[in-house]
Amino acid sequence: RKGSFKCLHKLNPAKHTLKAGSEVLFEKVGNAGVITLNRPKALNALNLTMIRHIYPQLKKWDKDSETDLVIIKGAGDKAFCAGGDIRAITEAGKAGDSLTQDLFREEYILNNTIGTYQKPYVALIDGITMGGGVGLSIHGRFRVATEKTLFAMPETGIGLFPDVGGGYFLPRLQGKLGLFLALTGFRLKGRDVQRVGLATHFVQSDKIVSLQKDLVDLKSPSNSDVAQLLDSYQEQVCGKNRRLLLFCCFRLFSAGSVEEIMENLKKDGSAFALKQTETLAKMSPTSLKLTFRQIQEGERMSLQEVLVMEYRLSQACMRGNDFYEGVRAVLIDKDQSPKWKPSTLSGVSEQAIEECFSSLGERDLKL
Ligand SMILES: *[C@@H]1O[C@H](CO)[C@@H](O)[C@H](O)[C@H]1NC(C)=O
Ligand SMILES: *[C@@H]1O[C@H](CO)[C@@H](O)[C@H](O)[C@H]1NC(C)=O
Repeated sequence: RKGSFKCLHKLNPAKHTLKAGSEVLFEKVGNAGVITLNRPKALNALNLTMIRHIYPQLKKWDKDSETDLVIIKGAGDKAFCAGGDIRAITEAGKAGDSLTQDLFREEYILNNTIGTYQKPYVALIDGITMGGGVGLSIHGRFRVATEKTLFAMPETGIGLFPDVGGGYFLPRLQGKLGLFLALTGFRLKGRDVQRVGLATHFVQSDKIVSLQKDLVDLKSPSNSDVAQLLDSYQEQVCGKNRRLLLFCCFRLFSAGSVEEIMENLKKDGSAFALKQTETLAKMSPTSLKLTFRQIQEGERMSLQEVLVMEYRLSQACMRGNDFYEGVRAVLIDKDQSPKWKPSTLSGVSEQAIEECFSSLGERDLKL
């Protein structure tokens, strides 16, 4: 996608780089504000510095009469954004640093800003989109997937839960698909990301440069003007795989508890079910139970209520064991064998889960 920037530059002399050479770039291309997450070697992982730059810039563009539209994308050709800077958070958490409170707090506030954005907001999720990257895109009005999009909420594998509003958008997907994605961290690819409604559009990645140019050329576009342009790039496809996946998820993940889901999967015995059993067995039992309840509760909440709940959960994870252990095993030592505490679902008490959802009083997230 480096090339696409060069093209934009040639096509539009009114391009200004507002902040160059750093982890996030802001440019005005005509009347479009363009945000580029610019840590390609780190798969554009989102850290607090980036959040602190994006938030005020979005606010500014929302009020600016010369900005009609915002486009957000990732640098390099692999990722939109592979998540939050998890390793930095665990290091800070161990050192008792306030970064652990700040990053979650500010990330959720940013999400809320994107969710309530007045102007058309287009996320080009052309590559890996996970965790924090989902937060930067899913709440916006338009999400454009390509054949390179790989979408997942893999947090239960590191002792966390699918945050950045996962409690809001996941239970709103069809059937039990959201619960399935939340618990297993299943990776959806390419067209499937749009078929299930996580992306609003699907466009071949080699058309993204021209799409961007056309977006930038729109004069004072409304959301429906942007929708019309995106629709014109969209390729329609039938959804056979999606129906099968939805059917399996509905049958196996309709249950009153994680334990029941595990039983459903074992009884079913299909290759799909066995694969999911294996996956779930690797996840943090505490995370699975937290996530199950988060998705259940989130179904009836507003986005704001969800974010307040998730902030409480994030702080509970910071107080616990599994998040640090998960990050150690998956991201630092990479031995892929976390020692979860408790190590089984039956070891995780209802009361322990209940406590994670309780109010933080003064320290609760205020939106
Ligand atoms: C975020 O990443 C950039 C670039 O890698 C780095 O310079 C900056 O210090 C990081 N910020 C934090 C808070 O880790
Ligand atoms: C983020 O916030 C906005 C505004 O409240 C909301 O509409 C959007 O759905 C939110 N996203 C999530 C995932 O909660």
